Amino acid sequence: MASVPSLSATVHQRLSDALAAARPEASGADPLLRGSDRADFQANGMLALAKKLKGNPRELADAVVAALPENDEIAKVEVSGPGFLNIDVADAAILRTLAARASDESGRLGVPFAENPGTSVLDYSQPNVAKEMHVGHLRSTVIGDAIMRILEHRGETVVRRHHIGDWGTQFGMLIQYLIEHPHELDHESDAARSGSGDSGEAAMARLNRLYKASRAVFDSDEEFKARARDRVVALQSGDEETLNLWHKIVDESKTYFQAVYEQLDVEVLDKDIVGESAYNDALQDVVKDLEESGVAVRSEGALCVFFEDVKGQDGKPTPLIVQKSNGGFGYAATDLAAIRDRIGNLHADKLLYVVDARQALHFRMVFETAQRAGWLPEGAAKQLAFGTVLGADGKPFKTREGETVRLVDLLNEAVERAAVVVREKAEAGGLGLSEEEIQERAQQVGIGAVKYADLSNSMSRDYVFDLDRMVSLQGDTSVYLQYAYARIQSIFRKAGPDAPPAVAHPEVELTPQERALALHLDGFGDVLATAAELYEPHRLAAYLYELASLFSPFYEHCPVLTAPSRELVENRLFLCELTARTLREGMTLLGIRTPDRL
Ligand code: ARG
Repeated sequence: MASVPSLSATVHQRLSDALAAARPEASGADPLLRGSDRADFQANGMLALAKKLKGNPRELADAVVAALPENDEIAKVEVSGPGFLNIDVADAAILRTLAARASDESGRLGVPFAENPGTSVLDYSQPNVAKEMHVGHLRSTVIGDAIMRILEHRGETVVRRHHIGDWGTQFGMLIQYLIEHPHELDHESDAARSGSGDSGEAAMARLNRLYKASRAVFDSDEEFKARARDRVVALQSGDEETLNLWHKIVDESKTYFQAVYEQLDVEVLDKDIVGESAYNDALQDVVKDLEESGVAVRSEGALCVFFEDVKGQDGKPTPLIVQKSNGGFGYAATDLAAIRDRIGNLHADKLLYVVDARQALHFRMVFETAQRAGWLPEGAAKQLAFGTVLGADGKPFKTREGETVRLVDLLNEAVERAAVVVREKAEAGGLGLSEEEIQERAQQVGIGAVKYADLSNSMSRDYVFDLDRMVSLQGDTSVYLQYAYARIQSIFRKAGPDAPPAVAHPEVELTPQERALALHLDGFGDVLATAAELYEPHRLAAYLYELASLFSPFYEHCPVLTAPSRELVENRLFLCELTARTLREGMTLLGIRTPDRL
């Protein structure tokens, strides 16, 4: 058996069938099954339905109960209040479902695939060449990576696109400076100057120097400025020497990006880095087609698309500029060309953009333009907009000097803080970890903490970057989840090779703590479906936190290895094992590691 519907899905089906049997005219209506405090589940759907059928909700609820066929899942059902159903499921049914899931040999814990998976192009992690990565790029990378994994897990084909900023007028300045100072990016001179760190940092240091030096000349020397402008034209028309130097700068940047990705424990493949420059040859066609179809019009020399509802503070319409009056193309033209490529050549059903919410207007105008031009079906593109990372003062995160915080510095600090926590805990627990093991775990804990803090918030919200909170053992943190996982592994280590097997025993009666844990385990597949459909990784994070939180009282009240009977020992080991596997699978989908010992 591969995919296994959750018990709650089965109960839901039973209720739908009963509804259809009781009121054939209402077949297909949703019984609205939810978790509940008063019973295992509550079904609220009879209220709205009775209203629609102009009947009495309690009577309808009674009729549904009467129409329920014999079944093994529902242990008790009762009509309550104005017409809810309170439903308790049988312990045996919970355990049977979990056992079926655990034995899914495909290793996906019985989680079903989406019914009609398609192709999504996911535009995420798009840093800019010759610039540092900052917290905004952190968000795009971490959220995009999680969404990519969650969608692929459901069977969706995900084409990754890292739309890096590798084109534009600033390259004229950088390249012209390089032509006039040919040794600027040389590695030897760099090693001599900085004593050389890791290659990513060194690459970025060289680029920073190039950027500052060329900027200084650009701002002070009019003649250089003119030469830099000509260099842009040379770049756009494909001049070989210019392109070679451009490549050199892009490659240097990629070396830096890859070093950050490695530290972030995120995979970005070179073939998926398709930056703005890749669309250069398509821009003329974009302009031609938009102009010919009348979607765009010339206004003061620029090619513009206007929108009824987009106006500046002066009340004048703010157009999307596809081509500037000097003939140059900007960010909008590239995005339009990318849409044509993604729909036309990559055959995407869905275009997703993990980009800062502050670019919402840009994407709204770009999508609307592409729709008017007939390049993009309505609703096929969606910006997964994320909020701003804030400092302790509640303002966008900056250094004390008011500069953007370098991502590498942040990540290093997170790992350092994590090392303190890991070391303390390892010493207190007599874990006997070597220094190397401590460093390895600090990496997994520190990076996990940063990712989890980002992913556990609903993505549109701003959040405060607070490392103390992120690496705390208490509360909704990845460290808490990682410890729950490691604790379960330690149970198995303690059990040793001669321990009883982890096997479900549907005949045992569950304690309240076991029940709560088991019922929550049942919901894993459903939460993954929701997280994928809504593109909301925080739902998975919340589920995992709840799972770890339910494990604690279970572990406290239900001795595992010293349980009174062999069946109980095996059944509890089973619950431990499935909890660990679920935590691991879920955290992997969020891009977070689960060390065995912590
Ligand atoms: N490079 C841009 C930035 O750093 C983000 C690009 C987003 N993707 C896109 N297709 N426009 O803000």
